[in-house]
Amino acid sequence: MKDESRNLLYKSATVYKLIMRLLYGRHYGRRCARIAELIPANSTVLDLCCGPAVLYHQHLRHKSVHYTGIDVSSQFVDALIKQGIPAILCDLRSNTALPHADYVVMQASLYHFLPNASHILDRMLDAARKQVIVAEPIRNLATSQIPIISTIAGRLSGPVVEASAQRFTEEGLDRFFRSYSTKVIQSFTIAGGREKVYVLDKSAA
Ligand SMILES: C[S@@+](CC[C@H](N)C(=O)[O-])C[C@H]1O[C@@H](n2cnc3c(N)ncnc32)[C@H](O)[C@@H]1O
Repeated sequence: MKDESRNLLYKSATVYKLIMRLLYGRHYGRRCARIAELIPANSTVLDLCCGPAVLYHQHLRHKSVHYTGIDVSSQFVDALIKQGIPAILCDLRSNTALPHADYVVMQASLYHFLPNASHILDRMLDAARKQVIVAEPIRNLATSQIPIISTIAGRLSGPVVEASAQRFTEEGLDRFFRSYSTKVIQSFTIAGGREKVYVLDKSAA
């Protein structure tokens, strides 16, 4: 599959990680740690829009989980495969069936699927044997008073494929998950209030 990623920030794992560190500051490490705490050892994990798979490298590797990442950026996917980490190159806007896993995770990426984010969330629920975990930015750093932060955040949220750049507010995200309320078992903010996490239980009504 040809790499369809148009966003320059998704072309290098090193650059991407540096920028995320700049944007999240002292909250950078904890944002993935909090997600990893929800995933028990020996689980299978499917990480959609995995990027450079920081969740795996920094937090899941030592827990003996069976991890697979999926991303549209061939640079990220190739790098993971070279490191011996299972990774699949896929544009998740397509209808390609997702592999099954106990936990299906998406961090900081649901906005890429607007305006029809339920299409990907429904497929995540189909693929999950236990839980779906979504962590999504709710504070728009593109409007930060610090020029370097607003410029980088604006670029980061720009189109990866041809979709238009839209973001969730906390109210918009809560509204979106209201239609999944029978499945949502937890929601809480992480990373100093920059992201909100929703945990959906597969077996709930
Ligand atoms: C903001 S990054 C998040 C990366 C990682 N989940 C994290 O939290 O550090 C968004 C990721 O979504 C990927 N992405 C965007 N649109 C996609 C699509 N249609 N299909 C698959 N991956 C996509 C990008 O390549 C990028 O790696």
